[in-house]
Amino acid sequence: MSQHCENNDQVLTNGHGGTKDNGNLCVLFSVKENVGALAEVLRIFKEYHVNLAHIESRSSKRFSDDYEFLIEIDTRSESANIDKALNDLKGISTYMQVISREPRGKESVPWFPVKIKEIDNFANHVLSYGAELDSDHPGFTDEVYRKRRKYFADLAFNHKHGQPLPRVEYTEEEINTWRTVYNQLTSLYPTHACREHNHIFRLMIENCGYGPDQIPQLEDVSNFLKDCTGFTLRPVAGLLTSRDFLAGLAFRVFHATQYIRHPSVPLYTPEPDVCHELLGHAPLFADPGFAQFSQEIGLSSLGAPDDYIEKLATCYWYTVEYGLCKQDGQIKAYGAGLLSSFGELQYCLTDKPEVKPFDPYVTALQKYPITEYQPIYFLAESFGKAQQKLKEFAYSIPRPFTVRYNPYTQSIEILDRKNQLEGLVKTIRSEMDILTDAIRKIQ
Ligand SMILES: [Fe+2]
Repeated sequence: MSQHCENNDQVLTNGHGGTKDNGNLCVLFSVKENVGALAEVLRIFKEYHVNLAHIESRSSKRFSDDYEFLIEIDTRSESANIDKALNDLKGISTYMQVISREPRGKESVPWFPVKIKEIDNFANHVLSYGAELDSDHPGFTDEVYRKRRKYFADLAFNHKHGQPLPRVEYTEEEINTWRTVYNQLTSLYPTHACREHNHIFRLMIENCGYGPDQIPQLEDVSNFLKDCTGFTLRPVAGLLTSRDFLAGLAFRVFHATQYIRHPSVPLYTPEPDVCHELLGHAPLFADPGFAQFSQEIGLSSLGAPDDYIEKLATCYWYTVEYGLCKQDGQIKAYGAGLLSSFGELQYCLTDKPEVKPFDPYVTALQKYPITEYQPIYFLAESFGKAQQKLKEFAYSIPRPFTVRYNPYTQSIEILDRKNQLEGLVKTIRSEMDILTDAIRKIQ
């Protein structure tokens, strides 16, 4: 097949279409400390018929020795007057932040997960599900294939954070498809793929069952990545919005499909499948520099306005999906869309496409085709330099706070108060002490 085959386009370009607000309205607030403060809060919600799906108290990260509350409001009730309740709550709060999937006044920021298990809240907000194939899909009229796709979608749909990833017994036909793709692509990797991909690929053959005769299990690949960089895979039932997909990266979680393309055209797939995820994406998530770069895109997306989500999704497209990099004076491919497409992997290194330096301010605005080979690619000098540029770009995103990932608690810290910064300075100072000691010992 000469057609361009791999892309994640729908994952990244469908904006918010199809996302339902089903309870993901969170409010973070502190109340002036006095007896009965919480009772007063509950009275407000009762008065306006607002149901709370979840309430928790915790030590305030903004004011020392203070407490704050996190509540999740059930937004489905017709009789609830949520805006009035929030207005009254604001009157008795010293601090209040509304985090919502739907715009709710100037002070609200788009909802995003702050704990890794909160990915469960959106992992099933998919734009299409399992057997729903377009009429031009190679498997459209194949009932057996559609049934199989539904099976994979159900597996992912029922998955929750913390559970082992579902192990799949692939059929002989599915393994044959994998073998065709695997043999074609691996013949190109030594000359076309970046150094990191080739280095890690060998480890994956040894450690997680990569080879022509079996399709590796997501669980084994995920465990391998976790050992290398803390990245994990999570099965996904369909296409996520750009916002949700990028939010996963902030936690070093990559949403991966588990089904395989239709056997009638093994070198073509209109949507990401297990070949794309495991051959294209997975190896590089084991590289510390690439893992950090990918997480940086994710962190930048949290709470960002819609137009910036689109810009970040475009940067993701031109790097994680279709990125080229320079190594030893030669151009190599590191994007998963290239590393999983036999045709485009060859094409991208010819003189036909235009190659521009990666610059998020330029790259973020570049339109791209989705059904043919890319006419333009962006070249990264290194993952480290690309990450630095992206970080600088992220500073231009209008949001009222900075975020930081806490790997100990696998949660996002929202930095918007002075005392939090003092804590951060202490942590950095302690890291600097380790660095100083290590330098001294090495010398
Ligand atoms: Fe992808």
